[in-house]
Amino acid sequence: LVRFFTPKVLAGQQVLVSAGPTYEAIDPVRGLTNLSSGKMGFAIARAAHEAGAHVTLVAGPVSLPTPRGVGRINVKSAMNMQKTLNVLSQTATVFISAAAVADWRPVESANEKIKKDGSGRVPTLSFVENPDILAGIASGARAQNHQLFCVGFAAESHDLLANAQAKRERKGVPLLVGNIGPDTFGQDDNALLLVDAQGTTDLPKASKLQLARQLVAEIARRLPT
Ligand code: CTP
Ligand code: CA
Repeated sequence: LVRFFTPKVLAGQQVLVSAGPTYEAIDPVRGLTNLSSGKMGFAIARAAHEAGAHVTLVAGPVSLPTPRGVGRINVKSAMNMQKTLNVLSQTATVFISAAAVADWRPVESANEKIKKDGSGRVPTLSFVENPDILAGIASGARAQNHQLFCVGFAAESHDLLANAQAKRERKGVPLLVGNIGPDTFGQDDNALLLVDAQGTTDLPKASKLQLARQLVAEIARRLPT
């Protein structure tokens, strides 16, 4: 019913959404991940579909049902997620990067489970930085003259506004969405701070689905006509 009454502000748009954490394997049974629940990204995918878009959701490991009418591809690692998003972004008109991508991955992942050797010695892990998926897609689209409206998210523990503004410019995206409050991971409620070239817009505390619907409207208003 909601879908029936929602204004189709994204009709004709191909919307790509990333959501959830990534999982960087250390060995076949262990890995590095984070507390992203995927709820915000899944709510955005649902809201974009309600608004008439064709929606593809690329999800890291989360236990959430796929929103009705949304296409879903599951991925694990950041490299995996990047490969999938790079391909899908070629045919997208909007890319919303809500995934909490691991900043680092282990240099190597063991083929077999790492065992204790009985001496009490502990393994040492070395890390390499993961590629910035969003920045890469935004600059690739610019280079190809492909009209792709990119939206980034920022999880900050302090100085949200300054960090979000800097992040927007560093990533080369028109819109950056800051999560307000340190503890949004896994919560059903959130509040958002939108940062674009014109300034800021506050979306006060509400359910993630309500915020997702407002965010979709804010994105639609900013799309080139
Ligand atoms: N992101 C990405 N690829 C990465 C890291 C982040 O695409 N390797 C995207 C996220 O999906 C989000 C945005 O970039 O939309 C900002 O992520 P965030 O972790 O806040 O920023 P970082 O650039 O990783 O900086 P830092 O964590 O050091 O604040
Ligand atoms: Ca990060």
